[in-house]
Amino acid sequence: MGLAHLFLFAFILLFSVSSAKISSKVGICYGQLGDNLPSPSDSVKLIQSLKAIRVKIYDANPKILKALKNTDIQASIMLPNNLIVNISSSQTLADKWVQKYVLPYYSDTKIRYLLIGNEILSAPDNLTWSSLVPAMRKIRHSLKTLGAPKIKVGTPLAMDVLQSSFPPSNGTFRSDVSDSIMKPMLQFLNRTKSFFFVDVYTYFPWISDPKNINLDYALLQASNITYTDPVTNLTYTNLFDQMVDALVFAMRRLGYPDIRIWIAETGWPNGGDYDQIGANIYNAATYNRNIVKKLTARPPIGTPARPGWVIPSFIFSLYNENQKPGPGTERHFGLLYPNKTNVYEIDLSGETPTKVYKPLPKPTNNEPYKGKIWCVVAERANTKELESALSYACSQGNKTCDPLQPGKACSKPDSLEWHASYAFSSYWAQFKRLGGSCYFNGLATQTIKDPSHGSCKFPSVTL
Ligand SMILES: *[C@@H]1O[C@H](CO)[C@@H](O)[C@H](O)[C@H]1NC(C)=O
Ligand SMILES: *[C@@H]1O[C@H](CO)[C@@H](O)[C@H](O)[C@H]1NC(C)=O
Ligand SMILES: *[C@@H]1O[C@H](CO)[C@@H](O)[C@H](O)[C@H]1NC(C)=O
Ligand SMILES: *[C@@H]1O[C@H](CO)[C@@H](O)[C@H](O)[C@H]1NC(C)=O
Ligand SMILES: *[C@@H]1O[C@H](CO)[C@@H](O)[C@H](O)[C@H]1NC(C)=O
Ligand SMILES: *[C@@H]1O[C@H](CO)[C@@H](O)[C@H](O)[C@H]1NC(C)=O
Ligand SMILES: *[C@@H]1O[C@H](CO)[C@@H](O)[C@H](O)[C@H]1NC(C)=O
Ligand SMILES: *[C@@H]1O[C@H](CO)[C@@H](O)[C@H](O)[C@H]1NC(C)=O
Repeated sequence: MGLAHLFLFAFILLFSVSSAKISSKVGICYGQLGDNLPSPSDSVKLIQSLKAIRVKIYDANPKILKALKNTDIQASIMLPNNLIVNISSSQTLADKWVQKYVLPYYSDTKIRYLLIGNEILSAPDNLTWSSLVPAMRKIRHSLKTLGAPKIKVGTPLAMDVLQSSFPPSNGTFRSDVSDSIMKPMLQFLNRTKSFFFVDVYTYFPWISDPKNINLDYALLQASNITYTDPVTNLTYTNLFDQMVDALVFAMRRLGYPDIRIWIAETGWPNGGDYDQIGANIYNAATYNRNIVKKLTARPPIGTPARPGWVIPSFIFSLYNENQKPGPGTERHFGLLYPNKTNVYEIDLSGETPTKVYKPLPKPTNNEPYKGKIWCVVAERANTKELESALSYACSQGNKTCDPLQPGKACSKPDSLEWHASYAFSSYWAQFKRLGGSCYFNGLATQTIKDPSHGSCKFPSVTL
């Protein structure tokens, strides 16, 4: 072969890798569980400023689809969880949904993916599970027959669909879903050339076992830590690859080795509560910059089990969302604050070299906090909700609120906020070990400043 041929050959190889397969650029999840978030049109500008080429929304909000009109941003929309059961048994309902939420926007907005529900197989209530794949089929049929055949249908699942993920070669789907749901789903994804959408957070395995999992390994920051799978001899340099490959092996086990994986969510919290570790701006920036660099690398890196594969992905999330339930970390996954400023600098195209960024604040909570924590009323708590939270906290038994009785140490001041703060601290101190949290639907927050005064001592939690 002459030199020119060699070049041509190399060119064809490169070209086929970069165009036949999906673009490796990174997208962003646009969650809307906040009461202080920018408008859809401002959000679209922000998404562009982050250089995201795709956006995933958690519904089919017409305002957002309109705001995305005539942009280059590809959209992934979602059929809400509560519609899955009915749609699974009615082609008419599926058609109606597609007619109402997809077709009117399809010509001007690049809707490319339609996800059926969110983490359905993680819901404790399993009534929807068996409807999931039938609903995927019905919606796919509607898209095909109603003129939007290019939209891929999938469903984002969490890593808890695996009952075993270590070593990666041992990856196995949970036995309660493996044959009944995963097999038909993989068959559907294979037949329709769609993707296995999965939420992959190295943060969660790390916080559940920070003694044995190295933080840098979870942050894709370790230069000298490797793990070799004893069965395959594949060598891992970060936890993300291990998790993705566990899924690859689980799919292989069911006879579907080639289905492409799409990271439907990944990210790291930039803040959280005092009783949570590792959630800080330094780690969040480090993880997200590293994962973007990995996922956008040319040529693609893939994983040890799938070297060179493109792994399309969405980073979670655009904003810190103040109405997300659960621990404080849940409300701190944003790349942006609701006031539109960056939590830290990041470029989702992966083109900005890390050394260009300004120095990050040092991590403050990579080690567990040592000391007392109290649980008090959060800012902006609504009076009516606070009254019912107070009575809930006080009705959980074991004298939670005795000191609030008239004449007792904590009865004064006789204000709702004071009483609720005492009740929250007292409740949390008593019930934390049983799984109770300092949350109360967003009415409560942790503090390390002792709220006690005079003879009124607030119960505290010590970690
Ligand atoms: C599903 O169908 C049932 C029976 O027709 C109906 O009562 C229910 O409201 C429907 N659910 C939703 C979310 O539309
Ligand atoms: C749902 O859970 C019940 C009770 O645990 C079980 O009997 C049933 O088989 C489960 N259904 C599915 C679809 O997993
Ligand atoms: C592999 O997974 C199974 C459960 O699916 C588990 O019992 C076993 O311990 C795992 N093997 C290793 C080496 O961890
Ligand atoms: C890895 O490298 C870092 C910094 O160079 C060093 O502090 C650490 O001890 C090394 N870890 C191992 C397991 O060799
Ligand atoms: C893994 O490496 C060991 C030792 O080098 C070798 O005996 C074994 O055959 C290898 N296994 C695979 C699957 O390559
Ligand atoms: C679907 O399965 C067939 C048979 O295993 C395989 O050859 C093909 O590559 C698969 N396609 C996808 C997209 O997974
Ligand atoms: C935006 O919000 C963050 C977090 O509340 C705050 O630290 C920052 O100063 C705000 N920036 C502006 C420009 O208001
Ligand atoms: C309440 O008190 C009983 C009896 O002392 C004890 O067994 C139980 O664990 C207490 N419950 C909590 C939440 O502390």
